[in-house]
Parts: sequence; C-alpha cells; structure tokens
Amino acid sequence: MTMAPSPPPTPDLVQEIARLKRGLNAVILAHYYQEPDIQDIADVIGDSLALAQAAARTEADVIVFCGVHFMAETAAILNPGRLVVVPDLAAGCSLADGCPAEEFERFIRARPGHAVVSYINCSAGVKALSDVICTSSNAVKIVRSIPEGQPIIFAPDQHLGRYVMKQTGREMVLWPGFCSVHVLFSARQIVRLKAEHPGALVLAHPECEEPVLQLADHVASTSGLLAFTKASPARAFIVATEPGIIHQMKKASPGKAFIPAPPDHGCACNECPHMRLNTLEKVRDCLRDRSPAVSVPEGLRARARAPLDRMLELSRA
Ligand code: 13P
Ligand code: SF4
Repeated sequence: MTMAPSPPPTPDLVQEIARLKRGLNAVILAHYYQEPDIQDIADVIGDSLALAQAAARTEADVIVFCGVHFMAETAAILNPGRLVVVPDLAAGCSLADGCPAEEFERFIRARPGHAVVSYINCSAGVKALSDVICTSSNAVKIVRSIPEGQPIIFAPDQHLGRYVMKQTGREMVLWPGFCSVHVLFSARQIVRLKAEHPGALVLAHPECEEPVLQLADHVASTSGLLAFTKASPARAFIVATEPGIIHQMKKASPGKAFIPAPPDHGCACNECPHMRLNTLEKVRDCLRDRSPAVSVPEGLRARARAPLDRMLELSRA
C-alpha cells in the first residue's frame, strides 16, 4: 500500500517551528516512520538506537520527540533535567502496550535465575525490571554479551526474539508480544511482488513473522535497511517495514525503486497508526505550549536508566 502524498507544508509553519525551536533551545528528534514533512524539519532522524544515543548526548533544554511514547519516555529517563515534549501523547506502541509491568514482573518471578533482556519498545516499568535493553540494531550483540549457560528471558517481541535465537543459537524464554503492524506483512503478497519485480531484493524488519523473514534478502533495523539500500548495487527493493522509511531511502538513492510490501488486505495498515498520529501542526503546538510533556517519577526513572546505560555502553564497543 503506498502512502498518500501529503500536501507540502506551508513555509509559514516550517518557519514558525524553527523560530519556536530557537527560542526554547530545543532539538527535534524524529523516527524514520514519521511523515516525510516531519522528517524534513528534524535535527536528528534515526532508528530507536540512534535516537536514544542522540537523546543521551543532547545539550538542548527541550527535546521534541517525534515518534511514539516509549521513545520519548526513554529520552526522559536519560534526561532528568530536560523537558521532553511530544506532538501527540496518544502515540503508543502495540508492543509496549502488550506487556504490562505487573504481568511481566509475575512472568519473571516464575522464572528465577534468568537474565532479562528487553527490547526498547516497552514501558519504563518493564525497563526497570530488566537487566539490559536492546533495539533491533543491537539485539544480537546484546544477547551475545550474556554469559553462555545463563538462561534468558526476552521481551516483549516474540518475532525479534526468535530471530535473535536463530542468529545466536541461544535458547530464550519469549514474552508472547508482537507488533500489530509488522505481523500484517504477508508472505503471499511478497511472493507475488517478487514475481512482478524480478531482481528486486526483499528487505524486512525483524519484527516481521518468520515466513516473511525467510523470504528476505536482508533483515535489519530501519537504519540497517537504509544502509543496505545505499550500499547495494540492486536497483529495486521490496520493503517489509513501515513505509515511512522509504522517504530516506529515496533521498539517498534517487535512481532506485522502493516497493512497499502490502499486507494481505488492500488497506494502509502497513503504516503505524501510532507514529502517524503526529503532524507538523502538532509539532508546532507542542513547542508553543511546551506540552504535552513526558516524564517518569524519579525512583522508577533511576531503575529504568541502569539497563539503558548498559545497552548504551555495550553499543559503544
Ligand atoms: P527500529 O529500531 O528499527 O527503528 O524499529 C523501531 C520500531 O518501532 C519498529 O517497529
Ligand atoms: Fe510499535 Fe509496531 Fe508502531 Fe513500531 S511499528 S512503533 S513496534 S506499533
């Protein structure tokens, strides 16, 4: 399903955002799944790891996080002294919502002695129960850092978990969560697209189900998929992840073709409904109002920070 082209933003709106941003000494961080017009005004565009790293090193007074709630919450955990605002507080994530901290705590207590590795797509409460956080770009490396023989719980994405088990050869206990967007990519439709576009390579995010990953020529995080399209001599790619990333793929490789992988139904449900709640107008409003803000109570923040710091440290090496 192709994204409906949005009308170009008015220069007034873009200028107003730039003026408000200067006045507040704010930085705008945006995920690759944001609307192209938001990506185009961001100071940093990246995957979840790059955005967490940018949040950890920023010297801005205000962070405008254009993504979903867990990403802004991560920025707040890393920046107790800074204001973190979001365009739309309702922008959540099915993975984070599908793993409530109280249930996860019971899940862990029932499995004593396990190291707990949590995908960054989770709440501060789940992070606080974890030993180390990972993203899709460093999950294999983080799991490999756990000593051999140590049993592991991996949460909340079972598909990323299974992919990491295959890559590392490590058995893990998986929380049965999934991304409601990525599970809709259809192996059947990808096979059809491959027949229509011979020579096109299939790219897939590891949140996709196994049959889709098996069809993929390259499996990686959003930034990994983008890097692959730049380096590859192929001229066409079938993209099995949220199609927001195609904006940067086209910018980086204008001569190449990018075909969004459709779900089984003729819907636009390969677009993340949470990510797409954010608009340029809401970016302006949250800068103007310094609201809605995302914050984490101090005790919880400190407990959630330790496993995040561990991830950032391991990602430096
Ligand atoms: P990345 O870390 O690859 O950007 O993925 C984030 C995400 O939410 C995927 O659905
Ligand atoms: Fe969450 Fe899936 Fe949206 Fe990513 S695409 S933010 S995992 S719901």
